[in-house]
Amino acid sequence: MSAKTRIAIFASGTGSNYEAIDRAIQAGDLDAEIVLLVCDSPGAKVVAKAKKNQLASFVFDPKTYPNKQAFEIDIVHKLKAYQVEWIVLAGYMRLIGPTLLNQYQRRIINIHPSLLPAFPGLDAVGQALDAGVKVSGVTIHYVDSGMDTGEIIAQEAVPVKPGMTKAELQTLIQKVEHKLYPSTIQQLILPESIRL
Ligand code: GRF
Repeated sequence: MSAKTRIAIFASGTGSNYEAIDRAIQAGDLDAEIVLLVCDSPGAKVVAKAKKNQLASFVFDPKTYPNKQAFEIDIVHKLKAYQVEWIVLAGYMRLIGPTLLNQYQRRIINIHPSLLPAFPGLDAVGQALDAGVKVSGVTIHYVDSGMDTGEIIAQEAVPVKPGMTKAELQTLIQKVEHKLYPSTIQQLILPESIRL
């Protein structure tokens, strides 16, 4: 009997990458199971999407905790309870602290809407347009304690056409994200997905 790799999605916003990963699983293109959503924003759209899919979630308000360590201890308990093997950040707008990093070394990945190391942090799409680059793109990387600084796993370029608006570039980048994230996760978990 084969066991699927158990992943948790961490998200704070819309959740289109969560949906893309879920679609890839349903289509049989990704041998994983999303077992938990972790969300730090109770009103986020991704929470309703997970609920509709009957996905278990841990939704918390950081303001109700004394510090990052305190809520990350709760997150780790949930991850252990759900036997999570990989953490997939998909629009989780927070740096990961040592409590989580130490428990999931080289098991936490993130997607960022630029060709890192260019344009880390907030509004990467706007930063790229302001800089006048002709090419931007998508990066998937391991997560470390820095802001979008971890080792790069995969990248795909997106051409920036003259006069392109931020919304247009964002749409193109997200289209790439929705393919590149599931396929990269599949590559990472491949040795696990064929275990018996
Ligand atoms: C994505 O563009 C991703 O690159 C960034 O946050 C965004 C999340 O979008 N880290 P969504 O919530 O998955 O639609």
